[in-house]
Amino acid sequence: MPARRTAAWYEGTSRDTYIHTAWMRRGLPDDAFTGKPMIAICNTASEISPCNAHLTQVSAAVKQGIWAAGGVPLDMPVISLGETQMRPTAMLFRNLAAMAAEELIRANPIDGVVLLGGCDKTVPSLIMGAASVNLPAIMLNGGPMLTGTFRGHPLGCGTDVWRWSEEARAGKVTNEEFAASQQAMIRSAGHCNTMGTASTMGIMAEALGMTLPGSAGVPAPDARLLKFAHATGQRIVEMVEEDLKPSDILKREAFLNAIVALATVGGSTNAVPHLLAIAGRVGADLKLTDFDEHGSHLPLLANLQPAGTYLMEDLFRAGGLLAALNQVRDLLSDEAITVSGKPLSAHLDGAEIFDTDVIHTRDNPVQKEAGIAVLHGNLAPTGAIIKPAAASPELLQHRGRAVVFENIEDLHARIDDPDLDIDETCIIVLRGAGPKGYPGMPEVSNTPLPTKLLEKGVRDMVRVCDGRMSGTAYGTVVLHVSPEAAAGGPLGKVRNGDYIVLDVPGRRLYVDMPDDDLNAREVLPETEATFARPARGYERLYIDHVTQADTGADLDFLVGSSGSAVGRESH
Ligand code: FES
Ligand code: MG
Repeated sequence: MPARRTAAWYEGTSRDTYIHTAWMRRGLPDDAFTGKPMIAICNTASEISPCNAHLTQVSAAVKQGIWAAGGVPLDMPVISLGETQMRPTAMLFRNLAAMAAEELIRANPIDGVVLLGGCDKTVPSLIMGAASVNLPAIMLNGGPMLTGTFRGHPLGCGTDVWRWSEEARAGKVTNEEFAASQQAMIRSAGHCNTMGTASTMGIMAEALGMTLPGSAGVPAPDARLLKFAHATGQRIVEMVEEDLKPSDILKREAFLNAIVALATVGGSTNAVPHLLAIAGRVGADLKLTDFDEHGSHLPLLANLQPAGTYLMEDLFRAGGLLAALNQVRDLLSDEAITVSGKPLSAHLDGAEIFDTDVIHTRDNPVQKEAGIAVLHGNLAPTGAIIKPAAASPELLQHRGRAVVFENIEDLHARIDDPDLDIDETCIIVLRGAGPKGYPGMPEVSNTPLPTKLLEKGVRDMVRVCDGRMSGTAYGTVVLHVSPEAAAGGPLGKVRNGDYIVLDVPGRRLYVDMPDDDLNAREVLPETEATFARPARGYERLYIDHVTQADTGADLDFLVGSSGSAVGRESH
């Protein structure tokens, strides 16, 4: 048996060993301290992170698996981030959660970790933290919720909120109907049931190789999730024996597999900064343009909201992620191994599609070209992204007059002003929503449209923003413009009446004026005044150190790994 990391705490007869063992004992059997792998379950269960509230039940099944395989399970609550509840945005705290998870794993007597996440930011933060320690680690996603229905219609979490709220503003449904649908929206335990960020990141974790193959997308209340939980617990014990670490799994090829999966399922744009940030932790060579080069020409096969019709429960009954990936098997790299020790493609045999309206076959895709398009130009020198599958085809090449809003409050205050000089050909520019500017890069980019245009039947316009968009949202929205306005990006210099050109086929985004003239402009004081200026605390640390979206919006000093070396003795 190889020497365990935890032997540094528990082996021998010193006073320090006495302290570590005596305080931990609390009913653990004697042999827990004599070489059995100690496995921490990084548990993001929290009642104020409701998508993850059921994870303690999942953790119980993981524990049984760890005991069964000869390990010692230890539940370790970590920072949990509830997407819908946190202000100004859960994204502000992703790096804090990652840093806390990293330090907890490193500081404690632990040989391996199980990562339990679900809601949007919990999955990337746990993988980021675990990757920077690089002890054997396996992820299990808490799974999507079951489909709720309202008056016979299935409700997609998020997507139907965006859709119904615009219909209510347009007078197509009553405000009472809109409000009543709220009771049916969240039907069960689990995370959002659309192909939003939570579902996407569950799938990214599996495509990266960090989960047991086949586990992504198992609905939270489904008994099979607990079976996967048990198997996850068993597997981490073996992974400790094999010394199979995140750095063995998270190679460039794993990220390219994730990009293929992202396109195939029509995943969220939020996967882009999350994958870039994870890659940064392990030093994998991944660039923003890789998402376009390796993903944008791929077919969309999963017919799920927001790009399509169905919901996660349907994906699961139709065969799940592995059935979708089996259609693009030739595009997956065998170079990357998963937590199973084998490549992802080794798990695709027999992965059948049971409903070809939910998972389309390769020869009959939902859309021919999905994925993420990366745009450059004088408005986005280091890049911006758009998800063409969620956009209006006729707007993908568009030149329009800019109507500029300094921040989201300015937009809310003026968007419905009957005197606002705007029509459907204009381009709505929203700035001050980047990592530094807000702070935290909130999901405000899919701005509401002017009511006077909604009433005319307009349902989409080009929008350009340095913030993010909910993975459940749709529209011709250019996101993550980098550098952001608050970091000196040219987005801060656009003025009302400028003409902006969006050319998705040409991968261009620019103000229709000479670059030098745009760059020579001063940022107006009223623009400058809206940028966040926190004086203290985590927000201060964050805006001083956050990197731009095109490199993952991590904190600059968290990029890379500090490893799992055991720290100095505490007494
Ligand atoms: Fe938690 Fe959507 S709000 S997953
Ligand atoms: Mg979100």
